[in-house]
This record gives sequence, C-alpha cells and structure tokens, in this order.
Amino acid sequence: MEENIGLKFMRATELKRLSPTDQMKGMEQPPLIKGRGRADYCLHLPDPEGLEVKSNDLIKAFTERRSIRSYADRPLALPELAFLLWATQGVFRDLGQATLRTVPSAGARHALETYILVNRVEPLRPGLYRYQPLEHTLLIENEDPELRDHITAACLGQKMVEGSAVTFIWTAIPYRMNWRYGERGFRYLHLDAGHVGQNLYLAAEAIECGACAIGAYDDQEMNRILEVDGVEEMVIYMATVGKKEKEAGDD
Ligand SMILES: Cc1cc2nc3c(=O)[nH]c(=O)nc-3n(C[C@H](O)[C@H](O)[C@H](O)COP(=O)(O)O)c2cc1C
Repeated sequence: MEENIGLKFMRATELKRLSPTDQMKGMEQPPLIKGRGRADYCLHLPDPEGLEVKSNDLIKAFTERRSIRSYADRPLALPELAFLLWATQGVFRDLGQATLRTVPSAGARHALETYILVNRVEPLRPGLYRYQPLEHTLLIENEDPELRDHITAACLGQKMVEGSAVTFIWTAIPYRMNWRYGERGFRYLHLDAGHVGQNLYLAAEAIECGACAIGAYDDQEMNRILEVDGVEEMVIYMATVGKKEKEAGDD
C-alpha cells in the first residue's frame, strides 16, 4: 500500500529515527511565551480563585458534557472568561525555564498561544484579544468590527462562531516544542491542544456554558486573520463558548 502523508509523518517521527535536537546540541531555549508584540494596552484579569464556580462532580461533568453549537444571548462576565482562560492555560507555577499550568504539556514546553474572538463578554469591547498566561492579562490585538464575519467565514461559515460569546483560537509555536523534541514535537503540539480543548469543555460546564471544538477551518485564512505566518506560528485548534440556552422547566 502506498504510504500517505499521515503515515509518513508518524514513521518519520518515531523516537528511534530522530536526529539530535537543538536542545541536545546546546542551543538556547526559546522564550516561554510570545511577547507583547505591538499591543500597547494590557487588561488585568480577575483572579480565577475569586469566582464562585459550582463544584462539579467529575463523573457528572464527563457524562453531561456535550458539544453545544447554539447559545443564549446572555453575555459572559469577565471573571467567567478569566476562569476559562485560566482553566485552559493558567500558570500556577513559574519555574523560570518552564511553567506548570492547569493543563499538561509534553516536557512542560507549553507551545500554544491563546487568542480569543470576543463577541459578548461584559464589559469588553468586541475584538480579538491574546491571553498572557504568566501575567494573567489580555492584550488587544485587533478591534476590526468585521473580524467576527471573517473568522466565521474562515470556519467554513459555521454559525456557532458568530453566535458564540467568545471563540478560542489556539496557535502553536512549534520551535518551543521542537527545540527539545525535534520533529516529533509536532505530534505533541496536537496532543497538548486536545488537553486544552477538554479543559475548556469541562470548565465551560461549570459556569453554565456550552462549548464546541472546531477542527474545520481554512488554515491559511485563519493564519492571515491572526497575522501569523503559518511556519513560526500557526492556528492549531479552535472552540466556541456561550451561555447555555435555558431548557423547558428551568427558571
Ligand atoms: C478535533 C475535533 C474537531 C472538531 N471540529 C468540529 C467542527 O469543526 N465543527 C463542529 O460542529 N464540531 C466539531 N467537533 C465536535 C464533534 O463533532 C463532537 O465532539 C462529536 O460530534 C461528539 O459530540 P459530543 O462532543 O457532544 O460528545 C470537533 C471535535 C473534535 C474533538
């Protein structure tokens, strides 16, 4: 059978085939997080531990979690958004050369960055923001009012993006991972993103929100919208979040 690209990738990144990595060669470690860039305004987020989150039974959270694609008009409050950001990428220990966060990551490399398209979060203005996990702050990246339509279109017109209160967009900076693991690191980027996605689903449940993962998006268009080059940094995963619509019988 002719090998397809996926199988070739899996074979080429088997541990025994790997060449020495940049870390093994003594090269300097890349920065732990992406710098501020041109953003000159940074918003300090509320402490997630201050938020009263209903203490969810773990088994219940597993069984009740569903992908939810339609949301109520109610906005999220800023502390709720802060909680979701913390639950998906929050740093609880800075070790200098690495960070320990609410999600696992191969070698604690944490090669993902979190952008959010804000549609309805009180009191934020709609736009594209980026989370700074070390400082627990948000940077404003882009306030173009047409952004929501562009991102919806890049997600093949999936209406849940324009209907969401907030859409998470995770990018990967591969060298942060590949410095240690070489090309095998590309596997780990995707595994890491899966953990982040699951934390978002479960955290959303705890604040009466629904979430839905998005893998169907136009890569080049999403990279263009985020102004990332698709090589040093690329969009790797997305997910929408919004308040759950009340069901009959709820008050
Ligand atoms: C990697 C991944 C990509 C997904 N991409 C999409 C997507 O682009 N659009 C969508 O509506 N749902 C998407 N989903 C949600 C799945 O369709 C959903 O998880 C599946 O139907 C099972 O439903 P459940 O999550 O309610 O258990 C994705 C889920 C995963 C894990």
